[in-house]
Amino acid sequence: MKTKKALTLTKPDDWHVHLRSGEMLSKVLGDTATNFNRAIVMPNLSPPIKTTADAVLYKQEIETALIENSDFIPLMTCYLTDETDPDDLISGFKTGVFTAAKLYPAGATTNSDSGVTNVLLLDSVFSAMSDAGMPLLIHGEVVDHEIDIFDREHKFIELVLEPLRNRHPNLKIVFEHITTRSAVEYVKSGQPDKLAATITPHHLSVNRSDLFAGGVRPHLYCLPIPKKEHHRVALVEAACSGDKRFFLGTDSAPHLIEEKESACGCAGIYNSPNALQTYIAIFEQNNALDKLNSFAALNGPEFYNLQVNTEEVCFIKGANPTSFDDVCVGDSRIKAFAPPFPLFWTVR
Ligand code: DOR
Ligand code: ZN
Repeated sequence: MKTKKALTLTKPDDWHVHLRSGEMLSKVLGDTATNFNRAIVMPNLSPPIKTTADAVLYKQEIETALIENSDFIPLMTCYLTDETDPDDLISGFKTGVFTAAKLYPAGATTNSDSGVTNVLLLDSVFSAMSDAGMPLLIHGEVVDHEIDIFDREHKFIELVLEPLRNRHPNLKIVFEHITTRSAVEYVKSGQPDKLAATITPHHLSVNRSDLFAGGVRPHLYCLPIPKKEHHRVALVEAACSGDKRFFLGTDSAPHLIEEKESACGCAGIYNSPNALQTYIAIFEQNNALDKLNSFAALNGPEFYNLQVNTEEVCFIKGANPTSFDDVCVGDSRIKAFAPPFPLFWTVR
């Protein structure tokens, strides 16, 4: 079989990214803004983006940090708390400030301390979102020290997500950065305009053994934590199937190197520089390059009721593996994701 040397895609969007703020934002933004036309920007700053007014300011900060003539569009999200005001949330959505709202169970991950302690407290917010057609983006892990870290996504489906969907059957939900076969199967049981999932490049590439290959690998640590190999295989099958319920979300989450290589290292993988190259490698390994455009550029806009991008981007396959530099921030740096296989594709 002749191997493919060039690949043209509709310019993709990133349906889940952490851009941070201040100097970190100015250093990482270019990697997202050059590779993607739009991105769903996560609100877990410190302090979080909790109101329409917060999001207006944060969007301005992002736009100011963009290089001149960039046509990148940040799509803003609201960080839900026990106190979220449904009127402010829905007015932010209807005026185009917010594209979606993000549910972090309190304590589930980085900067989630002000997240939701009990989803039942938000039923009026979810009803208002459902009526307005505003998508709910979910970090789907239970927060219970008694529940094994590798079981927290699976348990979330049964204990939180299914009851929530039964109470709000018309709510549009994105199950973010799924990591298990049960999440894949659960998403496939839903209606495509009501339930979808993002899948990251790292969860498609890495299993839990990779986290401990020859020693602990802090740069592969993220939440939800990568699972056993059969779960990774289920994610690859879902992404490569072309099923419109699955789409690209990098969950690129930069942290300074000292915060990763630490006695208590933080969760998050910075993959914006090579996310597309990693997705291409995975689809190529699985003879599914013909399904990549749906995953990367068509399925997301369809779920969010947005136009598909018109620009195209061309990749070529080089003879030698490409390397990706660390990003310098002050005296420190952020390490780019290193998948456990070489990357040969580059943007032409
Ligand atoms: O690994 C992660 N890092 N998972 C998250 O949910 C949050 C993210 C971050 O903000 O660093
Ligand atoms: Zn995230």
